Amino acid sequence: MAAPLICPSILASDFARLGEEVKALERAGADWVHVDVMDGHFVPNLTMGPAIVKAIRPHTTLPFDVHLMVAPVDPWLEAYREAGADVLSVHPESGPHLHRTLGAIRKLGAKAGLVLNPATPVAVVEEVVDLLDLVLIMSVNPGFGGQGFIDSSLRKIERVRGVLDRAGSQAVLQVDGGVTAANAGACVAAGATALVAGTSVFKGGADAYAANIAALKAA
Ligand code: DX5
Ligand code: ZN
Repeated sequence: MAAPLICPSILASDFARLGEEVKALERAGADWVHVDVMDGHFVPNLTMGPAIVKAIRPHTTLPFDVHLMVAPVDPWLEAYREAGADVLSVHPESGPHLHRTLGAIRKLGAKAGLVLNPATPVAVVEEVVDLLDLVLIMSVNPGFGGQGFIDSSLRKIERVRGVLDRAGSQAVLQVDGGVTAANAGACVAAGATALVAGTSVFKGGADAYAANIAALKAA
């Protein structure tokens, strides 16, 4: 099994030092930078606007994977792309026309991701699989870092793996929420190819990032 892409969520970083934090992640072996955008409406928390993404963009060459927990999401796609997003991931609940939204993301030259909440049916993936570069399975209810991994997510990863394989899709299959070295192996065995992790990467301070990332890759 290939090592998964490790995508640290900067939600768990020191917001007063974001530029240094993404540099430290790059040195520590991160593959992507996961940016959690929350609007205080679609989810009960408020985080980063496009100006912040733009400000940290020059501090690393790692791809920016922007998870948009925003509704309606369509009016924000261009601003996050211009700010430097490489992947834009959206929830199907964040607008009335998912097919149109995913097409708009690709038209902007970004990779298009679809995010499934714990209660979002897997069937939605089948309907838009040709438009997907990434599927993100939420293993917590979105809104906050530091929550516990929902075990039934493993079965959901397997089911989405099946859908992607049957369609011949090369989309990245990413897992987000409560990912640790203790469950990373099970996620990859179920078919995940990328892991988002906040708490388990940032614990112990900057000196620990490399070991924390290595532990996730090796799990
Ligand atoms: C939750 C976010 C996650 C979260 C991950 O809404 O999408 O990216 O911050 O953090 P941990 O790894 O602490 O669960
Ligand atoms: Zn996220």
